[in-house]
Amino acid sequence: MQLFEAINKRRSIRKFKNQPVPVEDLKFLVECATKAPSAHNKQKWKFIAVTNKELNDRCSEAVSDKIDQLVRKYNITESVQGWKYYSTFFNSAPAVIYVFHQEARGFLDKAVGDKISREEINRLRVHPGIQSIGGAIENLLLAATVKGYGTCWMTAPNVAAPEIEKILEIEEPWQLAAVIPVGVPAENPQARPRKPLEEVFEVKE
Ligand SMILES: Cc1cc2nc3c(=O)[nH]c(=O)nc-3n(C[C@H](O)[C@H](O)[C@H](O)COP(=O)(O)O)c2cc1C
Repeated sequence: MQLFEAINKRRSIRKFKNQPVPVEDLKFLVECATKAPSAHNKQKWKFIAVTNKELNDRCSEAVSDKIDQLVRKYNITESVQGWKYYSTFFNSAPAVIYVFHQEARGFLDKAVGDKISREEINRLRVHPGIQSIGGAIENLLLAATVKGYGTCWMTAPNVAAPEIEKILEIEEPWQLAAVIPVGVPAENPQARPRKPLEEVFEVKE
């Protein structure tokens, strides 16, 4: 499959066949992820693939519990069911890749890191560590599409990031950035709409 075909064919998949994903394939997907560019080539990323159903169930339950806590604390009544579904379904996939990141420090940190706040530094750098993770994840999703797997890039589970880090025994300074269920798709969704190019792109000549 050509790159452009994969870009057009990729969909967020939320229903999976009960068919295991071989570890070799998971390794290949992560290898493709790590070919992405990263700020200062620091590669501050870590990928944990979990095929153990019980572990994925525990992570999904932790997200569900956290949402329940937030719902109670802030008296939330709207969209709770949808929020829960879109945050927790990842345990229905035969494999889940948990993506962790660390803050990537660069020129600005070295130059003025002791003079201005982290908040101001982050505003000036616009989170290069997170941007690097984004490139890696997209590589992974496209490689999965070529291999015939469905995926979904998920950040909603991050509400329970500390709990998931504990379950997966991930230590600081690693932080959960995204959760990606992987499996053979059991649905074939239409392409979701995109804004017209004229709305998001302009050329200044
Ligand atoms: C950063 C990011 C976070 C996302 N988080 C979730 C999520 O937590 N749960 C979910 O079901 N989908 C999530 N999505 C998937 C989007 O809903 C999806 O990409 C969008 O609706 C477009 O559909 P498509 O991916 O099929 O083109 C996320 C996508 C991105 C890029």
